[in-house]
Amino acid sequence: MILCTSRSLPEKFAIFLLSAQCQSRSRDLFSKMADELRFDGRVVLVTGAGGGLGKEYALAFASRGASVVVNDLGGDAKGGGKNSAAADKVVEEIRSRGGKAVADYNSVEDGDKVVQTALDAFGRIDVLINNAGILRDRSFGRTSDVDWDLVHRVHLRGAFKVTRAAWPHMRKQKYGKIIMTSSTSGVLGNFGQANYSAAKMGLIGLSNTLSIEGTKYNVLSNAIVPTAASRLTEGILPPDVFEALKPEYIAPFVVYLCHESCLETGGVFEMAGGWGAQLRWHESAGAMLRKGGVTVTPEMVRDNWTKITDWSGPVKEKTREENMTDLMTKIEEANATVPESKSLSMKEKTKQHKIAESSYTYEAKDVILYALGVGVTVQEDSSHLKFLYEGGDDFSTLPTFGVIPAQVYCSKIPSISWTSVTLELLNKCYDYQILILTFDISFQQQVLQFIRFD
Ligand code: NAI
Repeated sequence: MILCTSRSLPEKFAIFLLSAQCQSRSRDLFSKMADELRFDGRVVLVTGAGGGLGKEYALAFASRGASVVVNDLGGDAKGGGKNSAAADKVVEEIRSRGGKAVADYNSVEDGDKVVQTALDAFGRIDVLINNAGILRDRSFGRTSDVDWDLVHRVHLRGAFKVTRAAWPHMRKQKYGKIIMTSSTSGVLGNFGQANYSAAKMGLIGLSNTLSIEGTKYNVLSNAIVPTAASRLTEGILPPDVFEALKPEYIAPFVVYLCHESCLETGGVFEMAGGWGAQLRWHESAGAMLRKGGVTVTPEMVRDNWTKITDWSGPVKEKTREENMTDLMTKIEEANATVPESKSLSMKEKTKQHKIAESSYTYEAKDVILYALGVGVTVQEDSSHLKFLYEGGDDFSTLPTFGVIPAQVYCSKIPSISWTSVTLELLNKCYDYQILILTFDISFQQQVLQFIRFD
C-alpha cells in the first residue's frame, strides 16, 4: 500500500512557483470578492501562532471576521524557553487592522488551559488549528529519549490535549473544524527526523479517527502537509525555493478547509507555494493465497511476492468505507474456489449446521472424573490437586474439559461427521475462558465453534 499524491514532484514544483505569482496578484482582490468566505461569529484557535505558518493563519482568519486565539509558548525552535512577545505581537497586528484576537501563552501540553482562554474570551470554539511545533533533528541512532519525547509531546500529545479539551464543546454545539498539521517527513520519511516523522504520521491517524467519531456531530477533521519557509525550514530548503514558499500561500487552503461550506473530513491535503493536492492511500491488486481452503504458508507468500507487490494491474484507492467490504469480498472469493461438487455439498452441510445456543451444566464430580480419566495425578505434580479436590480454595476445571460439552453439543447435529477436532483455549484477555473448537469435516472445510466458560 502506498500513499499517492496527485502529481509527481518535479511537476509539482513547476506548478507551485507559477501559482505563487498568480496568488500575489489575486490577493488584493480577496477582500473585494462578493462571495468571500467569512468567519463572522466564529472563534478560531491557532496553536503556535506567534510566527511562521500559525501567524499567517491567525491573520487570515481575523481578516475574515473570526475572533482569534493566538496561542504560542514563544520558545525556541528546539522547544527550549518561553516568551509572551511572539503571541502579543500577532494579537497587536490583528487588532491594529480592526480584528479581534487574544493571546494565550500556554504550552499545547496544557490543552485545557489553551481552550479555556478561548472560552473565557469569546465563549466558544469553532475552529482549531493544531500547528505548534518544534524540531529536534538527529539521525535515528543518535536520537535520545529527550529528542523523541519532546517532539512527541509538542506535536502529537499537544494536538491530542488541545483537541480533547475542545472536543466536548464542538460536539455539544454540533459544529467544529479541526486541522492537524502533518508533514512530508511523516508521509514519506526524512533522514534525521525519526522522532518528528513518527509524530507527524500519528497526527494523520488521529485526524482520521476524529473524522470518524466526529462526523455525526458535524465535527470535521483534516490533516495538512504544508511546505513553507519558516524558522523550521530555514537552512533545510534551498534559498530560491525558500523565497517562493511563503507561509501566506498555505493559509488560504487552511481557511477554506475550515469554512462552514467545506464538508471535507478525513482528508490529507498537501500544499506549497500556492499549489495544493490531496493525498490518498492506494493499494495494489494483491493476491489471495488461500484458495480451496488451503492453508497459507510462508513459502507461498515468498512464491507470490511479485504478485502481492505488483502495481502493473488496476490500482485501487484505499478508502475506509470500502475496506471491510473489500476484505469480505476477497474472503468470499477464496471460499468460492473450493471445487464445485465439494463446495455445494459443504453448503448443504452448512445449511443443516444451524448453530444454536445451548447450555451444559456440570458439577464438581464431573470435572474430577474427567481429570482422573485423562490421567491427572498428584504424584507427578502436587499442584494438580486443584483439579481433583473440590474442597480446595483453588479447585479448578481442567481447561480441556471443554471437549465434553462440545461433544454433547455436536452429537445433536446428525448430518455432520467430522474427522478431527482441534482445540485452542483463549483465556488471556477475558475474565472467562473461550474454547475454540475447529472441526475438520471430510478434510475439506472447517467449522468453528466458540464455547464460553464463565
Ligand atoms: P515555526 O517554528 O515558525 O512555528 C511553530 C510555532 O509553534 C512557534 O511559534 C513556536 O513558538 C510554537 N510552539 C512550539 N512549541 C509550542 C508549545 N509547546 N506550545 C505552544 N506553542 C508552541 O514553524 P512553522 O514552520 O511555521 O511550523 C508550523 C507547523 O507546521 C509545525 O507543526 C511544523 O512541524 C509544521 N510543518 C511545517 C513545515 C514547513 O515547511 N514550514 C513543513 C511541514 C510541517
